[in-house]
Amino acid sequence: MQTGRNDSFTSPWKSYFTFPRSDRGYLPLYPLKQARRFKVKTLLFFLVPLSLLLLYLRTYVFSPGSLCDPHVYSAGEWVFSPLPDTAQDVFSISGFEGCASSREVEWHLRVEGGQLGEYRRNASRWVWQPPKNKCRGMKPFAKEDLLKELVERGGWLFIGDSVSGEHFFSLSCTLYPHVIATPNYNNGTTYDRGYPQNLYLNPNSSLLPSLNLPVGFDIAKTPLATWRRVDLLFSRDDLIGLHKTLPPFDPTNATPSSGIFGTQRSWDLSPSEYLPIFMAPLPEAHYRILIVSTAGHWSETTFGFRNGLPEIFAFFNEATRAWVKLIASALKSDTEGRRVLVRSYTLGHENCQNINMPYTEIHPYQQKWYNWNWLDRFNDAFEMVIKNFAHPQIRFLSIDRPAQLRPDAHTTSDCLHITVGTGVIEGWTSYIMHYLSNF
Ligand SMILES: *[C@@H]1O[C@H](CO)[C@@H](O)[C@H](O)[C@H]1NC(C)=O
Ligand SMILES: *[C@@H]1O[C@H](CO)[C@@H](O)[C@H](O)[C@H]1NC(C)=O
Ligand SMILES: *[C@@H]1O[C@H](CO)[C@@H](O)[C@H](O)[C@H]1NC(C)=O
Repeated sequence: MQTGRNDSFTSPWKSYFTFPRSDRGYLPLYPLKQARRFKVKTLLFFLVPLSLLLLYLRTYVFSPGSLCDPHVYSAGEWVFSPLPDTAQDVFSISGFEGCASSREVEWHLRVEGGQLGEYRRNASRWVWQPPKNKCRGMKPFAKEDLLKELVERGGWLFIGDSVSGEHFFSLSCTLYPHVIATPNYNNGTTYDRGYPQNLYLNPNSSLLPSLNLPVGFDIAKTPLATWRRVDLLFSRDDLIGLHKTLPPFDPTNATPSSGIFGTQRSWDLSPSEYLPIFMAPLPEAHYRILIVSTAGHWSETTFGFRNGLPEIFAFFNEATRAWVKLIASALKSDTEGRRVLVRSYTLGHENCQNINMPYTEIHPYQQKWYNWNWLDRFNDAFEMVIKNFAHPQIRFLSIDRPAQLRPDAHTTSDCLHITVGTGVIEGWTSYIMHYLSNF
């Protein structure tokens, strides 16, 4: 996909600028047709054990889940699906029973002042359909399975900006009423935008008897999911330190390390603070998955680089490389099978409030908005860094295309944030759930 971006600049920092999007092949289906040649007796003697073997292979070796990699999944389309007759309020049209999080509920769900117009109802009418026959291994999503995953195998720690915060909010709705969320935003306290948020197992959940709580798991203390707001992967001091180790991007117009930041505030945390959270033992924590996303704040207002976006982008490459190395070294002490998933950053739309249905193909930007026409490139770069590093516990999930096709799914305030309950963010959750069945 091209967004009409200009590839002509050159950088003294290595060559980052070719990102083939890979088309991976699929495992061939096993040769069942040959079975027809056998006679009935042979069938008993050979086909039965053979079927059992194939079933075993299918389940454990050629898991059908492996047929739906992120690029395959993302090549699908949004299909119209009528709402159930019983869908009256924003929760039921969104497929939720409620939301555990109390933070900016009306903004997240796009029902400011309780308004639930046709536009908003329409936005919950679309379902992501991965390419037919290529994702048959995807089990239909069930919140019961997700709750079991989070309790028994381990929780999800979200590290990222406000869009990751939206993912956390969406999860609090998907899992409602089986989880409770902290903090309570209606208790009269004013919370900073970066205040840590957690989901815990609701001790009243009807599913409690079906769950095997790990030894040491404490319902009141062990989070199932947590979001920590981290806009730039690192703290500002980390980034300044990294910058000092690099040759100048443009020796004739070098940015001093003290001048890499611009005027816009960001919420930052060092990996030296959030990795210990990820790795902490029970009962304090039981995370298995770190879900990371970044790019939106790598902008010309957050950063003060003298050579604008090309320099920010080159620095992003260095930062993601340093980050992957750091994560890999933290994982050396892991004995619990922890995994790291980087979700591709979602792109904004132009003129979103005037578009009332999904696109069938990605529309290139007509104008320069923030760093939006660079986001593809940021995503591809992060993906290449992870691919080249080839660490078995770190993967990149390139699943931004479904969101790119949903100009109708934004919040009222802007055309980047996504309305919870329109299937976009819920799709990330269900895809991650599918991905984890094999990872
Ligand atoms: C809702 O969707 C229908 C069918 O696509 C369309 O005709 C209608 O204009 C939409 N309504 C709004 C308010 O966008
Ligand atoms: C609101 O809850 C937080 C903990 O989540 C607590 O620290 C704070 O004191 C509470 N505020 C009030 C007014 O109860
Ligand atoms: C669980 O149920 C009890 C009794 O109905 C109630 O007092 C309590 O608030 C509930 N807790 C939660 C987290 O919903």
